[in-house]
Amino acid sequence: MALNILAIESSCDETAASVCSDGKILSNIIANQTVHAQYGGVVPELASRAHMHNIVPVVDTALKKADIPLKNINAIAFTKAPGLIGSLLVGSQFAKSLALSLNIPLIGVHHMQAHVLANLIDEVRPSFPFLCLTVSGGHTQIVKCVSPYELTVIGETMDDAAGEAFDKSAKLLGLPYPGGPLIDTYAAKGDASAFNFPEPQIPGLNFSFSGLKTAILYFLRDGAQKDKNFVEKNINDICASIQKRIVSILLNKLKKASHETGIKDICVAGGVSANNALRSSFTEIGIREGWKTYIPAFQYCTDNAAMIAITGYYKFLNKEFDMLDVKISARADW
Ligand code: KG4
Ligand code: ZN
Repeated sequence: MALNILAIESSCDETAASVCSDGKILSNIIANQTVHAQYGGVVPELASRAHMHNIVPVVDTALKKADIPLKNINAIAFTKAPGLIGSLLVGSQFAKSLALSLNIPLIGVHHMQAHVLANLIDEVRPSFPFLCLTVSGGHTQIVKCVSPYELTVIGETMDDAAGEAFDKSAKLLGLPYPGGPLIDTYAAKGDASAFNFPEPQIPGLNFSFSGLKTAILYFLRDGAQKDKNFVEKNINDICASIQKRIVSILLNKLKKASHETGIKDICVAGGVSANNALRSSFTEIGIREGWKTYIPAFQYCTDNAAMIAITGYYKFLNKEFDMLDVKISARADW
């Protein structure tokens, strides 16, 4: 008999469900919430309401696409932390009710651990131990992964996440939210060495992006004093230069982590791994450093339930189940 897991992810502004069978993803359904764009960021209360609206059709579609009836599901996995509390509540209450009514185990999953274990979905997988740079709108971490059950954060951001650094830079340039993909698009036509933004000197493997944000602010103010159309005239070069610096901050720390741990199986996960400069620099450094490099398929990089399903699968194998009173948490500790 196959081991079938139904997974639910609702930590932020995507309502997602996935079914995996013996560790193979059979469906990966995501309902994006468009309601937030007009506010320039995610509005938590609106996110919770949209989750309530979406969750039944999304779960239903995931089961149908996988062609697995609810009665053949062996466990329900769900995101228990970190995230927006109202959003997590919708997913967790739904998961708990389903597990209770079907009388099957419940598995709470940490969203950031799931981003790392998304690297185990595709057939070409890293070997243990591996390092994973997880870069999303909410988090930036370097995680050392010795087994699916032994994940240690060895570096993380002290202020903004990498995605936030992209989005806040884009906002300073007057671009709409989320600006990360737009910076990527403009940067493709620009000269990355046109402007020089500082690289912060942060000890160890931690990151900081707040200094960069301030440097951009002053740079734009000075530019506007000389020419009020400074941004419009230089948008491609500015985006390319900002992007180059964010990518170098990330990859210099990743290189340091590899040197310190001696680990050469290296992964990148999270929504920012869509960035073209990050992808190409990661591959180039990998060749220079003799790394084996991995990036999950794009649909498993941005927020999704397949990564919750694969993590739930490994937890099931290790009999890591949760009681119905398992708590959700907005915090990222694990
Ligand atoms: O992982 P994700 O989908 O959601 C979170 O868990 O936060 O990441 C979203 C983040 C946003 O900040 C978005 O601007 C950024 O990923 N992003 C990008 C690109 N595509 C998405 N940043 C730079 N370049 C991109 N191509
Ligand atoms: Zn995420």
